[in-house]
Amino acid sequence: MPNKLCCPHRTKFEYLPQQFTDCNVEWGDVISKMSEEFEDGSFKILNMAESLMRSPAPTFVLMNDFYPNSIGEVFNKVEKKEGIRNLHVYTSLGFSAPTYGKHNDDIDVLLIQSIGSTMYDIEGDEYCLAPGDGMFIPAGVYHDPIVIEPRVTLSFAWDK
Ligand SMILES: [Fe+2]
Repeated sequence: MPNKLCCPHRTKFEYLPQQFTDCNVEWGDVISKMSEEFEDGSFKILNMAESLMRSPAPTFVLMNDFYPNSIGEVFNKVEKKEGIRNLHVYTSLGFSAPTYGKHNDDIDVLLIQSIGSTMYDIEGDEYCLAPGDGMFIPAGVYHDPIVIEPRVTLSFAWDK
């Protein structure tokens, strides 16, 4: 049974525009992470069939603990500031790349937009996350990401 740790200092949904302007990662480091995870098999392509049909615009979810250069620096900053323990890197390579669609999670999540912009529908309200923007999504709150351009969104959690 995983240990479901919640954010110790946030409880409600929060839109955090320009609160994380020092959290830019570089494409080169995202590519090295992708290549490392391809080797160890932990990388995931969201909705493979749909990705192939919509080629060349897949979404990759990078999930292992390999955080090269700029990604490691951002991880350390956010860990210090927020006490997070875990990072998934959502990387979409083009307009209309697939996502999980509308869903909720059973853990709290802190999203930080790092490259490009992504739209989010949060229970009927639309938010545009641009680089430097953040969003705290508590467990249970429905969210629907909409990919509008190539993007890298960092998804932090307190659950390892
Ligand atoms: Fe989610």
